Amino acid sequence: MKVLIVGSGGREHAIAWKVAQSKKVDKIYCAPGNAGISEVAECVDIGAMEFDRLVAFAKENSIDLTIIGMDDPLVGGVVDAFEAEGLRVFGPRKNAAILEGSKSFSKDLMKKYNIPTAAYETFNSPNEALKYLETSKYPIVLKADGLALGKGVLICNTKEEAFDGVKELMVDKQFGEAGNTIVIEEFMTGREVSVLSFVDGNTIKIMTSAQDHKRAKDGDMGLNTGGMGTFSPSPFYTKEIDEFCHKYIYQKSVDAMKAEGREFKGIIFFGLMLTNEGPKVLEYNARFGDPETQVVLPRMKNDIVEVFEACIDGTLDRIELEFEDNAAVCVVLASDGYPVSYEKGFKISGLEKFRDKDGYYVFHAGTKLSGEDVLTNGGRVLGVVAKGDNLKEARVNAYEATKLIEFENKYMRNDIGKGLDET
Ligand code: AMP
Ligand code: GLY
Repeated sequence: MKVLIVGSGGREHAIAWKVAQSKKVDKIYCAPGNAGISEVAECVDIGAMEFDRLVAFAKENSIDLTIIGMDDPLVGGVVDAFEAEGLRVFGPRKNAAILEGSKSFSKDLMKKYNIPTAAYETFNSPNEALKYLETSKYPIVLKADGLALGKGVLICNTKEEAFDGVKELMVDKQFGEAGNTIVIEEFMTGREVSVLSFVDGNTIKIMTSAQDHKRAKDGDMGLNTGGMGTFSPSPFYTKEIDEFCHKYIYQKSVDAMKAEGREFKGIIFFGLMLTNEGPKVLEYNARFGDPETQVVLPRMKNDIVEVFEACIDGTLDRIELEFEDNAAVCVVLASDGYPVSYEKGFKISGLEKFRDKDGYYVFHAGTKLSGEDVLTNGGRVLGVVAKGDNLKEARVNAYEATKLIEFENKYMRNDIGKGLDET
C-alpha cells in the first residue's frame, strides 16, 4: 500500500513512524513533513491547506490511503475533497469535524444529549456578553468559537479581566473570525486527562489515557503552549472513571453525532476534567493530540493501518485495540523564548544516538534539513520519548535521553510526569 500523511509536526512524525511498521505499507509520503519524518517517508512540498494539490498528488501517485493529522484541513473539508474524487482518506468530513471546529456546536451537542460538561452560554454580540458578565461568578472561562491554535481560551479571575477578554476576542478579533461567537463557561477544577479514540461512525474504541503539560514553565507556570510534554497512562484515569466515561460520554458522543446526521469517522480526542462531580468534557478534538500521540502510539500493539481501514470501512467492532502494560513520557525540547519569540536555524546534534535505541524515540516537531544538517525550525523542536515499566522509570529514561541532544537555546520543562508515582 502507498500512504500519504498530511501534516508536519511531532504528531505526524509519530503517526508516520507507526505507519512505517505496518506490514501492509510499502511506501509513505508526507505533505509537507519535516526533517525527522523524511527518515520514514518521502516529504512532498505541498501545504496541508492546498486541497487541490493534495488530491492531485494522491491521484497521480496512486495513494491507497491518506491520513490527515491536523485540525485546520479537517475543519476546512479536506476529507470531502478526497472523497469527491473517490480517494480513501482517514478523518472526519467537514460536517463532523465541526465537533472541534465550533465550541458552540460541541457545547450545544453535549447539552442536547446530556453529556456532562461545564454550564455555558453562547454570545454573538459583545454587549450581550458584557451584560451577562456583570452578574457572573468568577473565575469564568471565555472561549472563541472557532479554531485559534489552542489559544482562544481565556480564564478570567475578575470581571475586569473578563471584560478585557471580550474586547480581545470579539472586538479586536485577536483570533479573527474565530471570535465572532464566544462561549462563556463555568470554571471547573480538577485533574485533566486526554483520551484518544478511534471511531467508525458507530463503534468507538478507546486508546490508552495521557496527560499534556500545556504551560511553558515548571510547576505549570508561564504561558500556554502547544504542549511541553506528556505522559501515558494517566494514573488518575482509574477503572471507575473509565466505566463512567464509557457509560455517559464516549458512545453517547458518537451516537449524538450520528443522530445529528454528522456521522463521525476518525479520531475523537476527549479533553476531560475529573471534577468532584465526576468527569466532564472540556473539549473535543477531531484528530490525534500533539504531543499526546507521541506517548500513545509507541505503546500501541496493533497495526495502525488496519485500524484506520476499519474506521473507514465501518468494521471497527472487529478490532481489539491492545496497548503495552508500561508507560511513556515525552519531553519537548523547545527553543528558549517559546511561545513568545525565539530564534531558529541552529544545528541539532545527537539525533543519530536514537537510531535503533529500543524504547526511545525522538519525534521532530519543528526541524528542517539543510544539506546533511538538521536545523531547529520552530518553537517546539523535538519530542524526546522514552518508555519504562512505570511512569517513574519512563520519566527518568526520557530525561536521560534529553541529554543526548544538543542545540543552541535548548529549553525544556524539568517536571514532566513528576509527582505521579505514588498514586
Ligand atoms: P480547551 O481548548 O477547551 O481544552 O481549553 C484549553 C485549556 O483551558 C484546558 O486544557 C483547560 O486547562 C482550560 N479550561 C478550558 N475550559 C475550562 C473550564 N471550563 N474550567 C477550567 N479550565 C478550563
Ligand atoms: N495536546 C492538546 C492538543 O493536541 O490539542
